Amino acid sequence: MCGIIGITSTKPVTQRIVDGLKRLEYRGYDSAGVATLESGHINTRRSAGKIANLQSVVDAHPLHGHIGIGHIRWATHGAPTENNAHPISNGKLSIVHNGIIENFAQLREQLTAKGHVFHSQTDTESIVHLITDHLDHGSSPKEALHKALNQLEGAFAIGVLFEGHDLLLGARRGSPLVIGVGEEEMFLGSDALGLAPYTDRLIYLEEGDWVILKSNSYQIYDHNAAPITRPIVHIPTDNFQIAKDGFAHFMLKEIHEQPSVIGQSLSNVLDPCSRLPSFEGLNFPQVNAFDTINIVACGTSHYAAMVAKYWLEGLAHLRVNVDMASEFRYRKPTLISNDICLFISQSGETADTLAALKHAKAHGQFCIALVNVATSSMAREADAVILTDAGVEVGVASTKAFTCQLIVLATLSLALSLQTKASSPEQVTVHVEALTHVPTLMGQLLTQTETYSQIARKWLMGAKDILYIGRGTLFPMALEGALKLKELSYIHAEGFPAGELKHGPIALIDQDLPVIVLAPHDHLFDKTLSNAFEVLARGARVILLTDTIGAKKITQINDHIIVITLIETTDLTAPLLYALPLQLLAYYTALHKGTDVDQPRNLAKSVTVE
Ligand code: M6R
Repeated sequence: MCGIIGITSTKPVTQRIVDGLKRLEYRGYDSAGVATLESGHINTRRSAGKIANLQSVVDAHPLHGHIGIGHIRWATHGAPTENNAHPISNGKLSIVHNGIIENFAQLREQLTAKGHVFHSQTDTESIVHLITDHLDHGSSPKEALHKALNQLEGAFAIGVLFEGHDLLLGARRGSPLVIGVGEEEMFLGSDALGLAPYTDRLIYLEEGDWVILKSNSYQIYDHNAAPITRPIVHIPTDNFQIAKDGFAHFMLKEIHEQPSVIGQSLSNVLDPCSRLPSFEGLNFPQVNAFDTINIVACGTSHYAAMVAKYWLEGLAHLRVNVDMASEFRYRKPTLISNDICLFISQSGETADTLAALKHAKAHGQFCIALVNVATSSMAREADAVILTDAGVEVGVASTKAFTCQLIVLATLSLALSLQTKASSPEQVTVHVEALTHVPTLMGQLLTQTETYSQIARKWLMGAKDILYIGRGTLFPMALEGALKLKELSYIHAEGFPAGELKHGPIALIDQDLPVIVLAPHDHLFDKTLSNAFEVLARGARVILLTDTIGAKKITQINDHIIVITLIETTDLTAPLLYALPLQLLAYYTALHKGTDVDQPRNLAKSVTVE
């Protein structure tokens, strides 16, 4: 979380820093700030809340410096107030920080004992005083930074300005930081997206690196303070276009993009001649070289992993473990060498998933990253990378990235089922054929948005709690539907395997509790339908999503049940197609409640702290 932008230039930098922060708002939006160096003095502007507030402050009280740093915050230590906003300045230096300083309490105590006075509740302020302490003892900015870095524990990326010095220092450990190389100006940023309007020439700092930037030069050092060079990579900036294209919200735009990005993601992994799944060039070990696939992810990406487990077991007959990244690393899982670990992440930056990847790699696992950002930390750390082709996803709620993950995982399962000989090429062709229809079917579903808007208004927006149930791959989809609803509308929602209801959750049922039942007409349909009737019998209101064959079997129609009739699905296409109604129900519930759809409270798009 948190986004950093820094610029050293021969021209004014403030507005470009603020514009860069707007592009990084997906990393947090609790507060924002900018500081520039003018005639050797640091001036700072900060505000609580979204970047628009900072823009107003800067418009009213402009900054004119040619060297500056900016920050967008997702609060970890200290409330999201103006006083805790970054940059944090003390008259000698100014710092922006992404990450967590784990030994901040100890540093604060030591520095307070030496006479330093703290003014915020942030962990970041301990870095400010630590570097200041070294300056006070005669160190140059470069020496002070290096000494301080050796005393900090935790994961962080920082940018630092010093009074009286025309330079900008940056450092990374655990959190990403890139240098942008411009014409007579240099940039520092959390990622390529923030710097895209300014330069396409980027240098990714490695773990422990730090850098001194001037307007026309840079010098990188490693953790031992030895000068080091890192390659310049060219990143096409047209991959980073951000616009709502006439939609009310990024989320709605991204929901509507699914037919095209799903089609693209699918064609990327199909052999153009045979039309069979092809992951050639992936350097993926042959299936007989490993025993188990461990899939690790967070949030919505974790639900994609849960869906994939059904497919990999059912189609390819492989052994599959699925873990939440935040549990995986600390659980000390038994990792057999030669096993495969698959890490799924839209951003490729999620701290827990990245840490899990590094842990698995250190334990001899072949690590594959399934990510949506080719330049992400996970893509650079992994042994092999599979890219989804969803394009930039701005809405905090993952929509198109999730369905792109699903389509790639479906084809990966088919590819592995050919390797294990669990499926014949003819059988795989039938599945692929069904998948190729998904973009068109999604397009049809998206013509019915009004239905979901009405149900959200009449049945969901006033509810205090909502349950989602499903069986098989529709169980993780129930979890996903509940996550989408709660993160956007702040209504409490839970997903359950339909068969588990009677082991406890059914006690929650009363006439005020809507239950959303995911019931495609598959081999589990009759059982799921029985569960729907069980909750109906106890007074719940049921929204049942099924297909035309399923709908014909529902005889008990009354004013406590709404049946939404979707298109017929297969085991592979059902999660993909049921994702859209779940997204739309969550979107319209939030819209009618008036919550912030693209930037829900307390959240950030990219979760770069543990
Ligand atoms: O970038 P990642 O896929 O690693 O992100 C994982 C989760 O933080 C993310 O899916 C989160 O749960 C979404 N906000 C859900 O919509």
